[in-house]
Amino acid sequence: MTVGYLDDKTIAITGAGRGIGRAVALLCAQEGANVVVNDYGVSMDGQDPSSEVADAVVAEITGDGGRAVAVADSVTTMEGGARIVQTAVDTYGTIDGVVCVAGILRERMLFKMSEEEWDPVIATHLKGTFTVFRAAAPIMREQRSGTLLAFTSGAFVGSVAQANYSAAKGGIVSLVRSAAAGMHKYGVTSNAIAPIAKSRMSANVPMEIEMGEPEDVAPMVAYLLGDDARDVTGQVYTAVGGRVAVWNQPSEVREMRTEGRWTPEELARRLPDEVGQEPMPLIERIEEMAAAAASGDTPNA
Ligand SMILES: NC(=O)c1ccc[n+]([C@@H]2O[C@H](COP(=O)([O-])OP(=O)(O)OC[C@H]3O[C@@H](n4cnc5c(N)ncnc54)[C@H](O)[C@@H]3O)[C@@H](O)[C@H]2O)c1
Repeated sequence: MTVGYLDDKTIAITGAGRGIGRAVALLCAQEGANVVVNDYGVSMDGQDPSSEVADAVVAEITGDGGRAVAVADSVTTMEGGARIVQTAVDTYGTIDGVVCVAGILRERMLFKMSEEEWDPVIATHLKGTFTVFRAAAPIMREQRSGTLLAFTSGAFVGSVAQANYSAAKGGIVSLVRSAAAGMHKYGVTSNAIAPIAKSRMSANVPMEIEMGEPEDVAPMVAYLLGDDARDVTGQVYTAVGGRVAVWNQPSEVREMRTEGRWTPEELARRLPDEVGQEPMPLIERIEEMAAAAASGDTPNA
């Protein structure tokens, strides 16, 4: 029998019915893991749930000789997050890693965005990572090992018509770093992946961007779940095609001080030269993105 990279590990993956989550689930199973396939089976904007999407991936894995079980709950509720983790424990006796991939999009300019466009996007990405991390954390703390993995996006630095998505993805980076700090002494790691891959979610990106397949992202997930990455924590990694990159940790870059309290006039006089601004490449690229959007070019076309 061949030795798998994830032999004997039990991994729960959310959003595993399609796209990147599915590719992660298939690779984990191929590498010998027991897999919980969670997917709410919704449209790209989060509507019309169906259990068939998760069931289909479980059938694919078991048909190939692997071990998998489906959970069709939404990650947006505490009960959903708990059921995903509990199913792993009940079926396979443990939980070694959770991978939070589930996501939806509701794009709109900030000046038009409604509460119905904001809330479900935050609930699916940010709360949907919390519900699963929260359910897994006490078990991993008890067993003194485990891997918490979340999916952010390069859009966490800001995104023109995706304030909801960008804010959720930025929140995920902070959640991941908080989990890394809080779980470090229990041997539990926490990291985020910023992927780019062909899927229904990336089909409408209005510009030329680097692009790869969902299967290109999966090995990075398997590495972070595996025994070789036990001391990798608090990181954000880009994974696209054959490229992996690490993001910096945010920190202050320049400071100035005054005696006592600032006045607005003193700030206006000194700040531009002494502290200034940091360049924001996103704003510099807005014209390029608007032109691409107008031309109808998309990277999946
Ligand atoms: N594709 C890219 O280029 C790209 C870029 C940056 C970030 N991402 C992130 O990667 C992740 C996967 O994206 P994808 O492109 O594979 O998308 P996808 O739409 O193909 O898959 C997302 C899956 O999540 C499921 N889902 C949605 N809401 C859910 C919920 N409440 N509970 C459980 N499952 C739910 C959907 O049914 C779907 O199967 C997302 O978090 C996305 O934001 C993707």
